[in-house]
Amino acid sequence: MSVLVTGGAGYIGSHMVHALVDAGEPVVVLDNLSTGFRAAVPEAATLVTGDTGDAALVSRLIAEHGVDSIIHFAASIVVPESVAEPLKYYRNNTANTRSMIQCAVEGGVKHFIFSSTAAVYGNPAQVPVAEDATLAPMSPYGSSKLMSEIMLRDATLAHGLGHVILRYFNVAGADPAMRTGQSTKNATHLIKVAVETALGLRDKMDVFGTDYPTPDGTCVRDYIHVSDLVSAHADALRHLRAGGPSETLNCGYGRGFSVLDVIETVKAVAGVDFRVDRAARRPGDPAVIVAASDRAREVLGWQPRHDDLKTIVRHALDWQRKLGTAPR
Ligand code: UFG
Repeated sequence: MSVLVTGGAGYIGSHMVHALVDAGEPVVVLDNLSTGFRAAVPEAATLVTGDTGDAALVSRLIAEHGVDSIIHFAASIVVPESVAEPLKYYRNNTANTRSMIQCAVEGGVKHFIFSSTAAVYGNPAQVPVAEDATLAPMSPYGSSKLMSEIMLRDATLAHGLGHVILRYFNVAGADPAMRTGQSTKNATHLIKVAVETALGLRDKMDVFGTDYPTPDGTCVRDYIHVSDLVSAHADALRHLRAGGPSETLNCGYGRGFSVLDVIETVKAVAGVDFRVDRAARRPGDPAVIVAASDRAREVLGWQPRHDDLKTIVRHALDWQRKLGTAPR
C-alpha cells in the first residue's frame, strides 16, 4: 500500500516525503511543480507531474499504486494573494480538494490527511485558540480551506473516509539534516523574508502594521518548526491506521512571537543588522493567533522536538545559505 502525497515537491510536502521514505513507506508524489521543485523529492519516491484537479490522473495513481492514504498538501498559500485573486484560491484549494476527495472515495482510499490553517479562525476572540472556537476566516485563503474542511467532514459521514484535518499555524525552519527546506520563489512569509534580508538577498524588509493591539504593536504568531509539523502528520497517519476516529487538530506550540521579536531573533542568530521599515497593515492579517495545542498531543501523542525560535531561525538560515546567493 502506498501513500499519495500531493504537493510533495513543495516546502512542507517535501519534508513529509523524506519522513515517509525514512520510515520505509512507498510514496507517490503528485505535484504540478508550479511552486515546488523536482530536486526536493527524494529518489526513493515516485514523482508524477500533474494537477490535483485532474481526476482521471488521480484515480489512475490510486489504482496503480494501491494508495490507501492521501496526504493532501498541494494548495495556494499566500494570504494577501488570496485577497487579490480569490478565484485562484477557490479553484486550487476548494475545487481541487473536492475532486481529490471524490477520487479518494471512489478509489477506496481509507485515510485522508488534510492541510488546513489557523486562518480558518480569523481574528479569534480568545487566544490560545482551541479547535472548537468560532470559525470566521478573514481572507479567501482561510475560506477556501474552511470549505474544504466542511466537504471532508461530510464525505466522512457519508462514505466513511477517515480523516485528520491539521490546522497549521506559522510553519518555518528546515530539515535539520538540510536535505530540504523552503525554496519558494518570491517568498512572502516572515521568517523566509527576514532570513533573505539577513543574507543580503534583499536590501531591506517591511513590518506590515505597527499599530495592532499587541505589546509592541506588531502581529503575534505561533511559529512551528516544519519537522514538528511533519511528525504530527506521521502521528495522524498512525492514528488513522490504528482505527482512530476522524479529528480536527491545531498544529502550533501554544506560544506567540511578534514580528519584531522574529526580526530581532534573525538578526541575533545571523549576527548581522539589516534595514527594517515600518509599513502599512497588510490586508487579511489577524492581530494575534496562537494555538491551543493540547489536543494534538493528547489525541495523537504528538511530541514536538524543536519548540525554540532560535533553532527554527537557525535551520531557515542554514537552508538559505545552502540555496546560495540568489533566492530561487
Ligand atoms: N510580515 C511582515 N513583513 C514581511 C512578511 C510578513 O511584517 O515581510 C508579517 C505579516 O504582516 C504577519 C506576520 O508577519 O503579521 C506573519 O506573516 P506571514 O506571511 O509569515 O504568515 P501569515 O500569518 O500571514 O500566514 C501564515 C500561513 C497561513 C496560516 C497563518 C496562520 O501562511 O497558512 O500563518 O496564522 F494560516
